[in-house]
Amino acid sequence: MNDAVAALREVDFGYADRPRIFHGLNFTLREGEQIGLYGPNGSGKTTFFRLMTGLEKPQKGGLFFHGIPVAGEADLHRLRCSIGFVVQNSDDQLFSSSVLEDVAFGPLNLGMNKKQARERAMNALSSLGIESLADRPPHKLSGGEKKLAALASVLSMQPEALLLDEPTMFLDEASREKLAYILKGQTITRIIISHDGEFLRETCTSFMRITPNGSVAVTQAFC
Ligand SMILES: Nc1ncnc2c1ncn2[C@@H]1O[C@H](COP(=O)(O)OP(=O)(O)OP(=O)(O)O)[C@@H](O)[C@H]1O
Ligand SMILES: [Mg+2]
Repeated sequence: MNDAVAALREVDFGYADRPRIFHGLNFTLREGEQIGLYGPNGSGKTTFFRLMTGLEKPQKGGLFFHGIPVAGEADLHRLRCSIGFVVQNSDDQLFSSSVLEDVAFGPLNLGMNKKQARERAMNALSSLGIESLADRPPHKLSGGEKKLAALASVLSMQPEALLLDEPTMFLDEASREKLAYILKGQTITRIIISHDGEFLRETCTSFMRITPNGSVAVTQAFC
């Protein structure tokens, strides 16, 4: 069996004053897995990603990165440098005055100098065909352009795994096809949340459904 990248063990979680979403959740993301995650609105898919990246802390149980409990800031930093999370709402991901700055932010954070970070950023932008957006202010982009810029800001870090929350939201047919093509050409470990079953079938090799009562079931077929 391949090595575990990240895992949730015996996790209970609910937001304050809200019903519990997960109870005794066990999940392991292993190297090379490409999982399509789906389930109804409000079932907890985004929350699951927030637990996997330490953005929410479970009331019980814990998060592990390569088998080691994620306990402090240093552990969280290591995890976040390795697991690229593209959030559902791109406005939460883009905060600089230009797209290039946003996309170079991760590489700079990894310790690269300005020239190296810029090169990484330009490569990530051109891999998505959006190098022309480099100098634009992120808050003035269209929904689809923002989504692609947010994706570039994660790809520029060359993470070992990707968590993509609704990556096709706002994308036109050509951008959606391009993204599917890019992902199909990469063996990178990933979990993709989408309501677009066709996209998940194209880009993932196994599937996971979250039910409204917070249980998860992994299947080989999308159903
Ligand atoms: N910050 C929060 N505080 C309180 N409740 C929240 C918060 N974020 C989400 N919730 C609630 O938690 C539940 C799960 O939300 P979540 O965003 O994980 O669902 P989802 O499966 O990603 O839905 P969608 O398909 O609409 O994106 C929902 O009932 C939602 O209203
Ligand atoms: Mg969501």
